[in-house]
Amino acid sequence: MKPIYAEFPGEYLEDVLLPAEKIQARVGELGAAIAAEYAGKNPLLVCILKGASPFHADLIRSIHIPLAVDFIAVASYGQSTKTTGEVKLIKDLDKSLTSRHVLIVEDIVDTGLTLNYLKHLLENRGPASVRICALLSKPARRIVEVPIDYLGFEIPDEFVVGYGLDYSERYRNLPYIGVLRLAVDS
Ligand code: IMP
Ligand code: MG
Repeated sequence: MKPIYAEFPGEYLEDVLLPAEKIQARVGELGAAIAAEYAGKNPLLVCILKGASPFHADLIRSIHIPLAVDFIAVASYGQSTKTTGEVKLIKDLDKSLTSRHVLIVEDIVDTGLTLNYLKHLLENRGPASVRICALLSKPARRIVEVPIDYLGFEIPDEFVVGYGLDYSERYRNLPYIGVLRLAVDS
């Protein structure tokens, strides 16, 4: 199937892995599960910018209990910190986490280094709980195990774009998730 999208030179979308309808249906299920478990707890749904923003926006609208939102932006350091997974905070949360039930919302868990770091960072701020909700997981790539409390889909080891996920900041606006191929230089 040829995706309806103007691709960038040298890049093409090979396959639609998750159509928009399938994503939306799964987001609805996750929202219902989260609402059931967090009823009366006024959870704080933390969006990891930028990739998780479409997922976070749809997810909060499928959780029909009172909740609050906050946003955090991180960037991975270069090669040198690959093993520690230390991340640089570009934008911190606005609010205190003291006694809050925190649910971190992420687009994809790949090596697990980013979420492992972030989870510990937020756990050190005195919250009542910190759990993780990720839309996608690539278990084949894991370096550190992170508990994913709510998971949308497990996917194969392919580079995917769309629904927030980018390649060089492109493709975040696709309503579906597709596999990206790069033309090999000759
Ligand atoms: P981790 O620390 O290796 O788990 O990194 C997760 C981050 O890597 C995600 O938040 C994404 O920004 C990025 N990432 C990993 N796999 C993909 C992919 O297939 N497409 C787009 N971004 C990805
Ligand atoms: Mg990301």
